[in-house]
Amino acid sequence: MPLGGNSTHGVVIATENASYRVKSLASGEVAIYCQSGASITLKNGKVIDIECDQLNINAPAGVNITAPNVQCSAQMTAAGQINGNGGLAVQGGNGASFSGDINQSAGSYHTSGDVIAGGISLSNHDHSSGVGKPC
Ligand SMILES: [Fe+2]
Repeated sequence: MPLGGNSTHGVVIATENASYRVKSLASGEVAIYCQSGASITLKNGKVIDIECDQLNINAPAGVNITAPNVQCSAQMTAAGQINGNGGLAVQGGNGASFSGDINQSAGSYHTSGDVIAGGISLSNHDHSSGVGKPC
């Protein structure tokens, strides 16, 4: 329906089914939904909630997110390279695992644990058995 007769500013008046309607909307909030239970809700406070089983984004030119933090409640998998320009902090789980070579171009490597290379412990190797550089 064109608002004020202006066809460039129209609104859609859709059919409605109470069985599928998003229920807990506050005054001023808007939602679109389908009979499968998927919905997008524009909430008060400039919050958008998306409810679905799977969200697919197809953007061949890229996806840009401008936000101070992006959180994921479970695992993340990247099919391509992961680039970080602000550092990296990993904790929890089973630590970090790599396959392939690791190249460090600047800085030092510090650990409070041991370094084991080729099965030889840096902290506990035995010079008397001919392993490691003599002191
Ligand atoms: Fe040594």
